[in-house]
Amino acid sequence: MKFITTNSYERLSELAAEYIAAQVILKPESVLGLATGSSPVGIYKCLTEKFRKGNLDFSKTVSINLDEYVGLDGSHEQSYRYFMQENLFDHVFFKPENTFVPNGCAEDLAAECREYDARVRRFGGIDLQLLGIGFDGHIGFNEPDDHFTAETHVVDLLPSTIEANSRFFSSIDEVPKQAITMGMGSIMNARKILLIANGQKKKEVLMEAMNGNITPRLPASILQLHRDVTVIFSEE
Ligand code: F6R
Repeated sequence: MKFITTNSYERLSELAAEYIAAQVILKPESVLGLATGSSPVGIYKCLTEKFRKGNLDFSKTVSINLDEYVGLDGSHEQSYRYFMQENLFDHVFFKPENTFVPNGCAEDLAAECREYDARVRRFGGIDLQLLGIGFDGHIGFNEPDDHFTAETHVVDLLPSTIEANSRFFSSIDEVPKQAITMGMGSIMNARKILLIANGQKKKEVLMEAMNGNITPRLPASILQLHRDVTVIFSEE
């Protein structure tokens, strides 16, 4: 595991964007596993900047996002599809048919989950998976549990996650109670993993995940079993 500490969110964003850009330049048809949340916003800005300068081409790149709220369609401002359009896909050229976010409004959620894993397999797996980490140690929406789940699945969000994410909604009651999340199988099968964590408040859970016991009670701890993880942490 490679651990990089920076002193600003800007630097974290630049370094992570360089890492992703290098992956796409070396393999234009890369499959990127992308994340939402507040942490990657700066990375997507840096990638957009590189694209505008003509230094990055995503026209052959595939992106497969980690997760989506159940019950929000892509036109909802708090859906993760909407987030990806706003923060990246509307600014750089990805072929629309090459960007994937789980469909949280699918009639048959179990079938949607199965199809999501099958899609990852059809594309030959993920080349580079970008991850944030929740205060409870979740990655994607794999919440603390008594077992790890390999497949994409529907998860009941924990009250702490609902509360943490309520900052994006006008009231906590509007936060969906469930999400579809990629499971640990697709995440851990990614060839490379880039984990970002911003701010002192994330330090404790990050250190425990990297150095403590591997346990589904702290889902990110499973990353200790992966052979190519880069962590970028900003102390700011
Ligand atoms: C988002 C996701 C989540 C976030 C995590 C951290 O797609 O999968 O695991 O990465 O909740 O969120 P922020 O970056 O808002 O602190």
